[in-house]
Amino acid sequence: MNYIKFILAYLICASFISKSFAQSERLPQLGKDKISSLISAMTLEEKVNAIMLLGFSGQTPGVVGATATGLEKYGVPPVTMADGPAGLRINPNPVSGSPRYCTAFPTATALAATWNLNLMEAVGKNMGNEVREYGVEVLFAPAMNIQRNVLGGRNYEYYSEDPLLSGKMGASFVNGLQSEGVGASVKHFAANNQEKNRMSYNAVISQKALREIYLRGFEIAIKESQPKVVMSSYNKLNGVYTAESYDLITTVLRMEWGFKGAVITDYLGGKDFVAQMKAGNDMIMPGGNDRIKPIIDAVHDKSLDEKVINENVSRTLELSLNSPRFKKVVPSMKPDLSAHAKVSRDAAIESMVLLKNDNSALPVKNAKTIALYGKTSYDFIAGGRGSGEVNYEHAVSLKEALENEGFAINQSVNNLYSNYLGALIADTKPTDWIQQKFIIPFSPELSVSRKVIEQNASESDFAIITIGRSSSEGWDRHDSVVFDGAPAGYFRLSEIEKSLIRNVSEVFHAAGKKVVVVLNIGGATEVASWNNYPDAIICAWHTGQEGAAAFIRILKGIENPSGKLPISFPVKYTDDPSSVYFPGEPKENPVNSFYSEGIYVGYRYYNTFNVPVTYEFGFGLSYTSFGYSDLKLSSDTFKKSLNVTLTITNTGSVAGKEVVQLYLAAPNKEIDKPVRELKGFVKTRLLYPGESQSVTFTLDGRSLASFWSGISAWVAEKGTYEIQIGSSSKDIRKKAAFELPEQLIVEKVNNVLYPNELITDKKP
Ligand code: BGC
Repeated sequence: MNYIKFILAYLICASFISKSFAQSERLPQLGKDKISSLISAMTLEEKVNAIMLLGFSGQTPGVVGATATGLEKYGVPPVTMADGPAGLRINPNPVSGSPRYCTAFPTATALAATWNLNLMEAVGKNMGNEVREYGVEVLFAPAMNIQRNVLGGRNYEYYSEDPLLSGKMGASFVNGLQSEGVGASVKHFAANNQEKNRMSYNAVISQKALREIYLRGFEIAIKESQPKVVMSSYNKLNGVYTAESYDLITTVLRMEWGFKGAVITDYLGGKDFVAQMKAGNDMIMPGGNDRIKPIIDAVHDKSLDEKVINENVSRTLELSLNSPRFKKVVPSMKPDLSAHAKVSRDAAIESMVLLKNDNSALPVKNAKTIALYGKTSYDFIAGGRGSGEVNYEHAVSLKEALENEGFAINQSVNNLYSNYLGALIADTKPTDWIQQKFIIPFSPELSVSRKVIEQNASESDFAIITIGRSSSEGWDRHDSVVFDGAPAGYFRLSEIEKSLIRNVSEVFHAAGKKVVVVLNIGGATEVASWNNYPDAIICAWHTGQEGAAAFIRILKGIENPSGKLPISFPVKYTDDPSSVYFPGEPKENPVNSFYSEGIYVGYRYYNTFNVPVTYEFGFGLSYTSFGYSDLKLSSDTFKKSLNVTLTITNTGSVAGKEVVQLYLAAPNKEIDKPVRELKGFVKTRLLYPGESQSVTFTLDGRSLASFWSGISAWVAEKGTYEIQIGSSSKDIRKKAAFELPEQLIVEKVNNVLYPNELITDKKP
C-alpha cells in the first residue's frame, strides 16, 4: 500500500517537475535572461498591464499599488509603490484593521530648514529602511517643486523657494533612501506650484525662469543622486501635460540630464495615454481598462510603435530586477520605529528657526510652571494633509514634552483648553481617521479674556502661545476668508489670535514674565503685525511626531537652534511677487497660470526690488554667535572652477552650529540677474565656544551662468563677480571679488519648452 502511494506521489511529482521545467524552459526568466528576451516572450496585453500601477492588497495593503503585476511566470515580482514624502504612508488596513504605523518625519520645508545634507541623508536612509522593512520598493518622495507663492497648498511638501537648496536637499535624501536598496520617486516633474485646478492648469513660464528656477532643483537631484523613478506632474507646462511632453521627459530629463530610471504619471494625471507612452512616461498610475485599451488599440492601428511600449516595459522590469524583493529579501514588517523616531527628532531639532529672542528670553531660566495657550499647543500638528499624511502611532504633544522635561503645566489654562477642545471634538462627527486628526487645527481659536490671563500669570512663570496652521494637498491656502469671525486666513492671523498674543504678552510682561510664540505651521504666516509683543518666536514648522519634544529641548537650552529659513516671510501677502498672477487666469477657474515674475521668486525678488520682508531667506538666530574670518579665493580669475575658503568661529558662550551661505553677485550687464543668488552652503559641525572650523565652497561654470534663451545656453557674462558670504540672504559678513575675463558658454542645451502663450518676464 505504502509502495503504491510512493509510486503515485513520485509520478505526480515527476510530472509537476517536468511541467514546470518545460514551462521555465519555454519562458525566459527575469535575471536569467536578457530583459529583451522577456519582452519578446510577453504578449502585448501582458506588457501594457505591466506598466499600470494597480491597486494592491498583496504583501503590504494600504499602500498606493504595484506595477509589473501578473508576471510571476516570468519570475518578475511586482514593484510596490507608496506615498511620502514626510514618511511612508500606509493607510490602516481596510481588511484586518491592524495598523502598520510609520514614522512621521518633519515635512520637507522643515527638513530644508536644517540646511544639513548629512542629516538629510540620514532621514532618507531611515525612511528607506522603513520602506524596505514594510515590503515596499518605491517611495513617492522627495517632492521638489519650488515654493513659488506663499499660499501654495503643497508648499509644506516642498523644500524651498530656492532651487539650489531644493536640489541639494533632494539629492541627499535620495542618496540616503536608495542606500537601503529601495527606490525614490522624485516628484512632481515639473512646475507643480499650485492646487487650484491642479489637474489641468497650464503653467506658462519663460524658458529662462523654467531652466533657472523650476527645473534647476530637479536637475541637481537627478545628476547627483540618480533616483530610480521620477513622477510627472498633473499640470500642463507651456501647453502640454508634463506626462505627455517628450521635450520634458525625454529631451531634457533623459537626454540632457542622463536620467536612467523610469517615469510614472501622477495619480490620474494627463489625458492622452498614448502620448504619455510616446513621451517616455513609462508607467501609468492608476492602471485600468480605460488606459490599457487605448494603448493596445494604438499599437494595433499602428499609431503607436510597439517598440515604444517595449522601452517603457523594459524600464519597469529594470525596477523589478533591482528590487529587494527580487533579491529575495524578506521584509520583517517590523521596522525599528524607535530608532527612526530618534532620527526624526534630531531632524526636528535642527529644523527649528529662532526668529526673535529679545534679551535672551530663551532658553528659559528659572521657570517651573508654564501657561500653555493656543489650541494646537494641545494637539501639535505633525504634518500636512493629503497623500503626504503619515499614519503614525503617536505624536508627542507640547504638554507631554514639557512634563517629560520636568516642567509643570498651569492647570487652569490646561482645563480651559481641554474643555474647549473636548466640546469641539464631541460636536464634530468625523467620518474617518484623517478628519479626526484635523478637527482642532481647522477650528477657530479660543478667545481668552484678559482677566483670566491675569489670573493665569499669577500662577505661572512663563507663557507659550502656539499658532497652528494646517496645509493640504488639494487646495491652496488662502489669505482672506472669514476666520474666527473676521477676515484672516492661512497667512494672516485672526483677530482672536492677535489679541491672544497681545494680551498674554502685556499681562505676563507686567508680571515680569516672558512669553514665546511657537509657529506650528507648514508655510510662512504673517508676523509683522504682532512680532513686537512676545519676547521670542520660534518657527517649529510641522516637524513630525517628535516636533513638540524637539521644541522643548530648544526651549530649555538642551539644544541650540540652528535652523535657517528656506523661504522668505513677506510682510504681507501682496508683497509676494507672484501674488498678482496667482493662481492664474481667470482667477476663479484658471486655465493659464502666468509665471510673469520670471526668475524673481522669493529672495531673488525681495532683494533686487528692495521690498522689505519680516524675516529673510536664510535667516535664523542662535543662542551663540559666530565670527567669519580669513576669506580666501583660490584665484582672482575664474578658469574652470574656483575654491572659496573661510573660517567660522563660535564667539559666544554655548555650543552651536552655523549655516554659512555663499551668494554670488554677477556683473549683470547683458544678462538679467538678481542682485545675489545662493551658490553654496555649509552647515558647520557643533562648534564649542572658541572653536573654529574651516569651510570650503567650490564654484563651477554653472554657478556663474544664467540661461540665455536666445541661444539656448548657460552663459556666464565676463566681468567682476562678487562673492558674498552671509549668515542669511541679507546679513552678508564677508565679500571678495574675482574676474571672468571672457564670456563663457558653459553648456548648450535644446531649444525646447518655450511658452505657448505670450509672457513677458518681470525685470527690475
Ligand atoms: C499626489 C501625489 C501622490 C499620488 C499617489 C497624487 O494625488 O499628487 O503626490 O504621490 O497622489 O497617492
